[in-house]
Formats: sequence, C-alpha cells, structure tokens
Amino acid sequence: MACGVNLWTIPQPKPQSSYSSSSSSLKPPLTSQLSLLFPNFNNSTLSLRFHTTLSRSRLTKSHSPNAPPPHFMVMASTKNPGEALKIMISGAPASGKGTQCELITQKYSLVHVAAGDLLRAEVAAGSDNGRQAKEFMEKGQLVPDEIVVMMVKERLSLPDAEENGWLLDGYPRSLSQATALKKFGFEPDLFILLEVPEDILVERVIGRRLDPVTGKIYHLKYSPPETEEIAARLTQRFDDTEEKVKLRLRTHHQNVEAVLSMFKDITVKIDGNGSKEDVFAQIDGWLTKLLEQRKATSESLAA
Ligand code: AP5
Repeated sequence: MACGVNLWTIPQPKPQSSYSSSSSSLKPPLTSQLSLLFPNFNNSTLSLRFHTTLSRSRLTKSHSPNAPPPHFMVMASTKNPGEALKIMISGAPASGKGTQCELITQKYSLVHVAAGDLLRAEVAAGSDNGRQAKEFMEKGQLVPDEIVVMMVKERLSLPDAEENGWLLDGYPRSLSQATALKKFGFEPDLFILLEVPEDILVERVIGRRLDPVTGKIYHLKYSPPETEEIAARLTQRFDDTEEKVKLRLRTHHQNVEAVLSMFKDITVKIDGNGSKEDVFAQIDGWLTKLLEQRKATSESLAA
C-alpha cells in the first residue's frame, strides 16, 4: 500500500547522494495520523511505505544519472520490527550482482539465493531439470518458469532464509516470475538495479573466473586471484564467451522493463561502473537507511 501523504522526511544515504538535502531531520509519524490514514491500522500488522519528501526547493541536483526520483519510496515494515531484510538485486549479465552479494552477505548475513547458481548446481548434478536448463542457458535464454519458479520458491522457504532474510540474485527476470513470487507471498523491501555500460559488461564476462573451492568470483584484470595456488584452480563458466554474453544481454533487454515496472516504488538504481568497493558503499547506504527507518518507525509506534 502506498501512502500518499508526506509523513516523513527521509534524508538520502550519503554514498548515493545524487540529490543533497539541506536538512536531515526525521519527523516520526503520529499514531493518530496513522489511524486516520489507515482505517485498519494495527501495530502488529501494518506495513507502510513512506515517501522521501524531499521538496525540490531543498534539493541540489547533481549530475548523476542514478539519482532516485524525489518521491522515491521505501518500504518500512512495522509488521514485525525485527523482521529480516528481503532484498532483490538485478542487472545485466556481469553487472556485478554476484560480487556485490558477497559483500552484502558478509555485512548483513542475509541468505544469498542466486537463480543462476541454483541452475548450475542442477546442471552439474545431471538432473532432468539441469539437462533441460542447460539447453536454454547455452543459448542465453531464460530457463522456463516450470523449472525456475519452484526452485527459487523452495530455496526461499527454507528456515535459514526465513530467519536471516534473503538476498535474491537474478530473479525475477520476467513479469511472470515476479508475479509468481508475489503470489507465494515473497515480497522484497528493496529492489537494487545495477547499471553498467554494455562494453564494460562484455569485458567483465570474458575475464571472469570462479574458484570452485571457495565460490569466490575473480576477474583476471579487475580482481585477480590472491595466490598462484588459487589461480591454478580457477574455472570459467560455460556461458562466459563474448558470443553468449551478447545473447544474454539481448534476453535481459527484452525483459528488464517489465520486471522494473513491478518494483518501481522500491527500486534504487546504483551506478555499477565504479570499483566494487564504491558500488558496495552505495548499496550499503541504502540498506543502512532502510534499517534506520524501520527502527525509527517501530520506536515511534511503540511510544
Ligand atoms: P546468471 O548466473 O544469473 O548470470 P547473469 O545474470 O548473466 O549474471 P552473471 O552471473 O553473469 O553476472 P553478475 O552480475 O553476477 O556479475 P559478477 O559479480 O559475477 O544466469 C546465467 C543463466 O542462467 C542465464 O543466462 C539464464 O539462462 C539462466 N537463468 C538465471 N536466472 C534465471 C531466471 N530467473 N529465470 C530463467 N533463467 C535464468 O561479475 C562479473 C565479473 O566482473 C567478475 O569477473 C567480477 O570480478 C567483475 N566485477 C564485478 N564487479 C566489478 C567492478 N565493480 N569493477 C570491476 N570488475 C567487476
């Protein structure tokens, strides 16, 4: 439910400061206001979205193309103040989703669920699903929903994801996948979109290597292995060729707008063309802000 009344002024997280606000004061909503706005208001069940009410007069525009819209909305769930974070991360092939997921999970202890990794595990196991999936993956196409949707749903339903929260990487990639997940009751707090120019993506794919022992992602130029022992065991994905990444990019472009349309109220666009640390600083800023918001909301509701 979107709240059309400006209840809070939410300062922009610093690393993403494409717009800068002259004031960072937080104004907690009053319980009585909430009751008026939401007739079914109930501390234990209400879930709100708050506008960032940055009035244009108080904003200084920057040159970043990734600035959130002034009315960017973030879900501040009060259903359960201690509820774990649920985050989706999206972006073109090699935009850095997996790399950022490593950093996010290190700090926030979320369960990383990567649709591509689940599929590759099926391929490696030689299961029926894996054999079918590989045909599509080799062509850079989406694996059919019959295989992917239940696979992701089952992983998200495991107790660790429910308890610690989840970070869903590379799913949903189509409107039907987004709709299916919603029907199962999985709704994210934040949808992160990594944006990287296409020529950079191709270079990233070609240089990517994986450590089969630790699962860590490397790049021969941008993130080389730390030791010769690691270098000697690195592997390359079967779909990491220039030809295949172009097919994957085409599939991405065909679907991305439809997926974004489902999550536009909770989407943050991140400039993914910096160092991995800089990209993480932007994401970290938004996650910190989201947690601060939740805390302030639950405190104001408890008062
Ligand atoms: P998937 O495995 O999800 O591949 P992808 O979306 O193409 O994304 P990648 O894993 O290639 O890239 P990434 O964004 O994680 O980048 P990374 O961090 O590794 O899917 C594979 C296939 O499975 C799909 O084509 C499809 O067939 C199928 N599939 C998956 N999900 C599906 C779904 N939901 N429905 C249907 N089918 C599905 O980084 C890439 C490289 O860049 C690395 O070498 C890294 O070191 C380097 N790098 C990262 N960040 C930076 C940085 N900031 N600066 C410099 N280098 C960097």
